Amino acid sequence: MLFVSATSTTTTSNGVEQQSNNNNNNSSSNNETIDKLRILEFFSGIGGMYYSTLISGIPFEVLQSFDINTNANDVYNYNISSKYPNPKKHKVNSKSIDALTTKELESFRANTWLMSPPCQPFTRVGLQKDLQDNRTNSFVHLLEQLAALAEPPTYILIENVYGFEKSNARDLLLETFNQLQYQFQEFHLTPTQFGLPNQRLRYFCIAKKVLLNNDSNNNSNSNIDIKTKIVTKDNAIILKTIPSYQHTENNETNTIEQYLDESYNTDEHYYKYKIPEKLLLSKGMLFDIKTINDKTTNCFTKAYSKFVEGTGSVLQLDTNYKADINVPNSLIPMKLRYFSPKEITRFHFFPEQFQFPPSVTVAQGYRLIGNSLNCKIVSELLKYLFYKFNDDNNNNNNNSNDNDNNASCSSGNSNNNNNE
Ligand SMILES: C[S@@+](CC[C@H](N)C(=O)[O-])C[C@H]1O[C@@H](n2cnc3c(N)ncnc32)[C@H](O)[C@@H]1O
Repeated sequence: MLFVSATSTTTTSNGVEQQSNNNNNNSSSNNETIDKLRILEFFSGIGGMYYSTLISGIPFEVLQSFDINTNANDVYNYNISSKYPNPKKHKVNSKSIDALTTKELESFRANTWLMSPPCQPFTRVGLQKDLQDNRTNSFVHLLEQLAALAEPPTYILIENVYGFEKSNARDLLLETFNQLQYQFQEFHLTPTQFGLPNQRLRYFCIAKKVLLNNDSNNNSNSNIDIKTKIVTKDNAIILKTIPSYQHTENNETNTIEQYLDESYNTDEHYYKYKIPEKLLLSKGMLFDIKTINDKTTNCFTKAYSKFVEGTGSVLQLDTNYKADINVPNSLIPMKLRYFSPKEITRFHFFPEQFQFPPSVTVAQGYRLIGNSLNCKIVSELLKYLFYKFNDDNNNNNNNSNDNDNNASCSSGNSNNNNNE
């Protein structure tokens, strides 16, 4: 099996076995002033950003995580906060992010902000109320706070749904970055590009504060220089690969089998996750059915197991049978079941040690993991941001390479992978 094993929640990479097929590690020298990421983790959920950073191997400390969802916070505290010598200090702050003051945020002296703001205001299937949706307020508040901070963070990473790039919230984000002289790069990435058998096409944006040295501060030409290095929203290009990362070719992803629970072949496991016959007979033909040898699954959403269509794939255990579209009964002997929450965390590249606490039901588990993110993708973006994303000319290089980038990978996948 190919899982990351994080044996402790210390803030170094010790104890983390990386599934590493990349070649973009520790090669930069542009971090003279920063020896570790001092992170504020906003909208922390079940800790996707925490685990991504752990997996990246970059030294880090999460100074504070923030989320209002009590179930998510239980999971975060159970897996992460409780492992610190002083768990209380590392408990998730459940205060709403829109109530955080500049003074509070400044007190952390964080150099990194990681966030995956609520995506409902931007999903294709939703109302797309964008900035008019109250759920965007906390994100806008953070952008306002960013502008108000005496010492804004050097690094920022944002994850959201595919489609966010068309929103006014994204325009506001890029305007803020330009105003505050951040260099940024946007991406559209999906786990199958990283060897994982799952579609979850998402928008990502990384940003790094352009550092002004003393000379340039006093040089009237320096602003002109710096502005040419910053990509404006009008000419921003969304990359479909991470520069210098060796992405997986379409047919090289791992098979689903490698991510299944050890007991997946037992009756007990099947009955625990079995799809009720009544549902199979009424809506069974709408399921996306996969076998253990398949190399992809559809995006798992928070409505997995609650709704049928577009919420994620199901697994066929008995491959001696085939579905006949005109005969719903043909689905019964196929032994169809839902993927377990734990299996989905593996598709999302959460470490094997990650567990849902016993108090969290299976349905709650699906909701939480469906809201979460792919840790492999974020860990690679963090490495790129920290080690490779130069102040000088990376953006220009990226943009000039972009034709290659676009040509070398698909511009999206057909299987409803854009779902929330
Ligand atoms: C897309 S999910 C992020 C999940 C997270 N990245 C993870 O790995 O599980 C958005 C999260 O934002 C939280 N949230 C929404 N509005 C919030 C607010 N005003 N203050 C704090 N958290 C909020 C939700 O509870 C939810 O857990």
